[in-house]
Amino acid sequence: MANIILLGPPGAGKGTQARKLVDERGMVQLSTGDMLREAKTSGTEMGKKVAEVMDRGELVTDEIVIGLIEEKLSSGQGNGFIFDGFPRTLPQADALGRLLAKIGQKLDAVIEMRVDDEVLVHRISGRFTCGKCGEVYHDATKPTKVAGTCDVCGSTDLRRRADDNEESLRTRLMEYYKKTSPLIGYYYHAGDLFGVDGLAEIDDVAASVAAILDQQV
Ligand code: AP5
Repeated sequence: MANIILLGPPGAGKGTQARKLVDERGMVQLSTGDMLREAKTSGTEMGKKVAEVMDRGELVTDEIVIGLIEEKLSSGQGNGFIFDGFPRTLPQADALGRLLAKIGQKLDAVIEMRVDDEVLVHRISGRFTCGKCGEVYHDATKPTKVAGTCDVCGSTDLRRRADDNEESLRTRLMEYYKKTSPLIGYYYHAGDLFGVDGLAEIDDVAASVAAILDQQV
């Protein structure tokens, strides 16, 4: 069992790899992006505020996301947690350490997915996901086998994200470099940091991630 963070800019492939680990290793994916998108549809005042911030590509407050993670950590942990898109700031990283210690757990690896910025625009602009099971696709690199139908669950509810446009992506990238990239140094100093080539084919990235995980268990 291992608890890991997938760290990388928007479009690095965090969600894609997290889903593979869930399927292949029975780990539990904790994606703050997915949790916040769920909150967006709740119709509450908080949901409306979250929607505005996310659609602009800015970060939601630490308080909200730490609260979401704390709630999820108390539910089952399967074969370890995959933190996907969390932590994104130094206060979130500190909070994660404290929350894991509280449940008698620790972090085993932080996997930095390294991808060039030019590739991210292509990945984000071609992305769509299944609204029912969450499978992630791409117009060019990972299309569905049957047009308009999810390969995994057969749903025809395929969606594009409101923040997957060039303007939001520019803000998301700036937020990443300003607030999230300092975590690379933070976890390097803690001795938890591993890097993978996020530009490789999806299965090759998965093999690199698997090799790191196998060293930890
Ligand atoms: P979030 O949902 O976390 O989005 P993100 O970090 O911007 O990351 P993405 O989901 O866009 O990319 P990904 O790395 O998962 O890539 P994917 O696998 O989909 O956050 C959204 C927003 O929520 C934030 O902007 C913020 O407002 C808020 N938020 C979330 N967490 C927060 C936090 N902790 N604090 C504050 N605010 C928070 O892949 C992308 C595409 O590329 C897909 O089409 C895929 O098929 C394709 N692809 C993947 N890997 C490969 C590959 N190796 N080769 C070719 N194509 C590939």
